[in-house]
Amino acid sequence: MNENKNNLNNNILITGGAGYIGSCLALYLKKKYRITILDKKQSKNLIINTCNLLDLKKLNHILNKDKPKLIIHLAAQSLVDETINKKKYYQNNILATKNLITAMKNHNLTNLIFSSTAAVYKYSGKILSENDTIQPKSTYAKTKLKCEKIIKDSKINSIILRFFNVCSSLKVNNKIIGEFHNPETHLIPTIVYKNLLQKKFYIYGNNYKTQDGTCIRDYIHIKDICSAIDKSINYLFRNNKKFQIINIGSSSRNTNLETLQEIEKITKIKNIYTIEDRRKGDVDLLVCSNSKAKKLLNWQPKNSAIKKIIKDEILWVKHLIKNKQFRKFKNYL
Ligand SMILES: NC(=O)c1ccc[n+]([C@@H]2O[C@H](COP(=O)([O-])OP(=O)(O)OC[C@H]3O[C@@H](n4cnc5c(N)ncnc54)[C@H](O)[C@@H]3O)[C@@H](O)[C@H]2O)c1
Repeated sequence: MNENKNNLNNNILITGGAGYIGSCLALYLKKKYRITILDKKQSKNLIINTCNLLDLKKLNHILNKDKPKLIIHLAAQSLVDETINKKKYYQNNILATKNLITAMKNHNLTNLIFSSTAAVYKYSGKILSENDTIQPKSTYAKTKLKCEKIIKDSKINSIILRFFNVCSSLKVNNKIIGEFHNPETHLIPTIVYKNLLQKKFYIYGNNYKTQDGTCIRDYIHIKDICSAIDKSINYLFRNNKKFQIINIGSSSRNTNLETLQEIEKITKIKNIYTIEDRRKGDVDLLVCSNSKAKKLLNWQPKNSAIKKIIKDEILWVKHLIKNKQFRKFKNYL
């Protein structure tokens, strides 16, 4: 009781809080902390401090008013798409992060959690740990790596979390939130939605070096992402002047075929799909070692069994359909 009361005096600010992970996280942390959400876009369901991180003056004003004990920096241009102008990545990721650090220093704010990505690693075909070779390929991943460096050099008390494939939905009391990207490019939200609506989708490549030829991925339930961030907050509040880089994934291996067969089993609706040629840049296996997170944060991915991920995504898709919110896809999905 006392701990909760103390926490509620601690204000936490989430940048990118109108996005998928940010809106789920705000709901998850709300009981424990006073939450302020900052985003450049508005949201129907959340109270947002509308601010583009590129607007340093407004950002300074918000931090001065709010004085958050900790900032969770999720705001980014996160769609991996090489057709997007590089300037957009540079601004929304690098410049925005530089501004945030400047504003934090201006107001003597010391605790930061940053969402980075598995895409910063060099592909090795092996399970990835934090000290493996770094070699980002996409513009998106290159800008994330640059942000990691800016944060490290700032000497701010911080944790960099490298997320693997985040998915599914979160239910707190009777409220459900999930992923609603436009366009949707991730595998699980695409194929669950298309299975339920009996639409065709594509699987790219069945000649990878895996048991059934399709790619292997590590999926992590949004609830486990939220609990990892919650544990990271505890860690930062307990330890001053720290810098840590930590993988957040389930460490489980699911091939694309296994994943879509699991969906069929649960919904009892047949998938409609074709196998297409491999896509440039896709790799056989992308799985993380999460032993550092388990040890350092005392965290466990308790919700990331593929069945649970799919069942919670189905609940969210049914909610979307009931509310006439329809997902949009690129024509190649
Ligand atoms: N979803 C995943 O699987 C995944 C995996 C690895 C890393 N990540 C990282 O986690 C973070 C959150 O991901 P998400 O899926 O919720 O993304 P999202 O696109 O749903 O949300 C990002 C939010 O940031 C906001 N934003 C972008 N630029 C901004 C700026 N300059 N100023 C203010 N707000 C800005 C957007 O309006 C959006 O609401 C991102 O940094 C992403 O790179 C996500």
